[in-house]
Amino acid sequence: MSFSTHFTHAITRRPAASITKGLRAVDIGTPDLGLMQAHHDAYIATLRETGATVIELPPLDAYPDSVFVEDTALCLPQGAIIMRPGAPSRLGEAAEMAPHLRALYGQVLEITGPESFVEGGDILVTEREILVGRSARTNAAGIAELARLTAPLGHKLREVHTPPGVLHFKTDCSLLDAETVLSTTRLSASGCFQGYRLIDIPDSEEAAANTIRFNDLVLMPQGFPKTRDRLLAAGYDIREIGNSECAKLDGGMSCLSLRFTPK
Ligand code: GLY
Repeated sequence: MSFSTHFTHAITRRPAASITKGLRAVDIGTPDLGLMQAHHDAYIATLRETGATVIELPPLDAYPDSVFVEDTALCLPQGAIIMRPGAPSRLGEAAEMAPHLRALYGQVLEITGPESFVEGGDILVTEREILVGRSARTNAAGIAELARLTAPLGHKLREVHTPPGVLHFKTDCSLLDAETVLSTTRLSASGCFQGYRLIDIPDSEEAAANTIRFNDLVLMPQGFPKTRDRLLAAGYDIREIGNSECAKLDGGMSCLSLRFTPK
C-alpha cells in the first residue's frame, strides 16, 4: 500500500464567516459561505466513503484562509512537521494545527524560522521523494530547513519551482498513484517530473490540476469534463466535488485536508 496515496486519517477545518476576506490573486467574486460549506460537506463525506477517519476542526474566524489546512503541516508516515506559512495573515494557522497533530503523532517537528517559510501546498510527497516548489510563499531557507528535518526521517527532498503567477506547486499538479502525476504542461515543461508517468491537463482546464488521490478515489473539482474523461480513461475512480467558492480564493482539493496515517 502506497504511503503517498493511502491514509487512515484526514483533518479538515470548517470554513469561517471571515472566508470572504480570504487571500486571492485576482478578485473574481466573494465566496458564498453557505455554498462553500455544502461543498466542504461533500468533500468530507467522500473522504469518509473510503473508510478513513475524518476530523473536522471548528472554524477559526481570526484566520480567513484557515479552511485550507494543508498549508499548516507536512504529514509523513514517520512524523508530522509544522509549517511556517509565507503569507503573514496565515502564519498563526500553523500553531492552531500543532496540538491536533501532537495528539495523533509520536513525533511532531516544526519549521522554526525566523527567515524560513514553507506552505504545505508547495509540497508533493511521492513514494520516492519529496518535491518542494519554491514560490512566493515558500523560500530557499524554508526548503533548506525542511530538508534538514526530513532527512533523518528517511526522505529525500528535491527543490523544484512553482510556475510564476501560480500560488502553490500543487496548484498545478497532483499525485495519482505511486508512479503517476497529473500536471499542467506549463509546470511539467520544466522537466521536474522526469521518471514519473505523466498525465497532461488538457488545454484550458489548468484549474483541474489540483486533485487528490485518497485511498481508492481521486477527488477532482467539478466542471472539467476533458480532465475527468482523461482520468476515467486511465482507470481512476473519480468523484467530482464542487469547488467554485474555494476557487475564488485559489484553493482546491488538496488545500482542504491533511491526509495521513499517524504513528
Ligand atoms: N487563499 C489561499 C491562500 O492564498 O493561501
